Amino acid sequence: MKRIKIIELLNQQNLGIEVNIKGWVKTKRLSKNVAFIAMNDGSTINNIQIVIDLNKINEKELNKVNTGASISVNGTLIESQGSGQKTEINANSIEILGEADPDKYPLQPKKHSLEFLREKAHLRFRTNTFGAITRVRHAMIFAIHKYFNDKGFYNIHTPIITGSDAEGAGEMFRVSILDPKNPPLTEDGKVDFKKDFFGKETNLTVSGQLEAELAALALSEVYTFGPTFRAENSNTSRHLAEFWMIEPEMAFYDINDDMDLAEEMLKYLVKYVLDNCADDLAFLSKRLTNEEKNKKQEERSMELIEKLKFVLENDFVRITYTEAIDILKNSKPNKKKKFQYLIKDWGADLQSEHERYLVEKHFKKPVIITDYPKIIKAFYMKQNDDEKTVRAMDVLFPQIGEIIGGSQREEIYDKLLSRMIEMDIPKEEMWWYLETRKFGSVVHSGFGLGFERLMLFITGMSNIRDVIPFPRTPQYAEF
Ligand code: 4AD
Ligand code: MG
Repeated sequence: MKRIKIIELLNQQNLGIEVNIKGWVKTKRLSKNVAFIAMNDGSTINNIQIVIDLNKINEKELNKVNTGASISVNGTLIESQGSGQKTEINANSIEILGEADPDKYPLQPKKHSLEFLREKAHLRFRTNTFGAITRVRHAMIFAIHKYFNDKGFYNIHTPIITGSDAEGAGEMFRVSILDPKNPPLTEDGKVDFKKDFFGKETNLTVSGQLEAELAALALSEVYTFGPTFRAENSNTSRHLAEFWMIEPEMAFYDINDDMDLAEEMLKYLVKYVLDNCADDLAFLSKRLTNEEKNKKQEERSMELIEKLKFVLENDFVRITYTEAIDILKNSKPNKKKKFQYLIKDWGADLQSEHERYLVEKHFKKPVIITDYPKIIKAFYMKQNDDEKTVRAMDVLFPQIGEIIGGSQREEIYDKLLSRMIEMDIPKEEMWWYLETRKFGSVVHSGFGLGFERLMLFITGMSNIRDVIPFPRTPQYAEF
């Protein structure tokens, strides 16, 4: 008999058909003459109920049908006698594919904490929560590619191993085959990276932007979507050492075009998940409401689906950094010294508490901040005529803070070069980047969307370690 997935089975109108299903046991319940098994194969959040007549299965076999075991069931699709589901399977035979010792299987049919499940990342895919997150994550990846493809953007693969620090922040993981105990040395006693695999110092990339710019200056509109790595020691619920980033880069776009694209894309992705992941979202919404039951009313977030629709229906607020600083300086938490980092002067870097204040308390909408002080932003950003600010733009979301960072790029050779010198960016190593400004340079812009930050927003999860299958954080690289 041909195997059918549970999602297809639950949509099946044809009662009476004979089917085979394979999956994992969620729960087993015994009554006088029959056993009820809730079974799931990951194709949907919904389980299928299997009903088996106890005369059709011997006790020894039935004892092996435990939470976590894998089984194959042959049976007939019938209308359900119970109230929880429309249809169920009347089983003719059950085969145990893989047993799971009920005394040892870590995921009991009860609620486990997210912290506990992180230590069981090899099995947590089997929980309702992580099944839902994994399917939504896939849907978002697909939607991102679809969005760009439909708009005529080309996807390019940018290198993962690189010799340059795109953000100039020096937070990179070294890639080397040299013996750390006994590395070859130069005459002046430094490690001789000429003897290393690539003949130079190399690292894991922090961003694909610089290479994406090269492609945009030929193909006009491109994007890269790859893993990025940051060795910053940030043990927060919004930072990973390995995360995925979507980076579009567009020739002939200025910062306003860049913001328009960012807003349109985020709204497209929100609409996509609402249109395509209804069951998983309904589950995640219930989960969030439950989790927040014990919080005070004013600390609770908006109901998940309501929150997604809210973003869809409202224009993002656009303000300059200078305007943001004025608002923050005069804000209640600043005056009452409630912020951990008080805003004193123009030039201060915005912390997540400030970003969230602007979004959640002041405007109550997503906010895009532009024209940041050049001293707190990367070397490649377009310099404004005031000589103080650059054409940066950050998109801030509720609960998340910064979800997108981007800018118009400096396309004028002399200006870019002088900024690199000012900021100690090794211009010799970046000769190829500078050269694009010598030959047919044009106005261009781009941004980076942190994929896991997007996933936090879409799923309503509160820790970034729970929206990527295998998180990498300081002191943690298990699995
Ligand atoms: O603001 P960032 O550092 O910008 C760049 O890397 C630019 N090169 C992007 C570009 O213009 N092409 O990072 C972009 C986004 C942030 O807004 C945030 O969403 C996410 O990447 N991000 C992180 N996500 C998880 N963990 C971290 N440690 C992150 N650091 C940045
Ligand atoms: Mg940033």
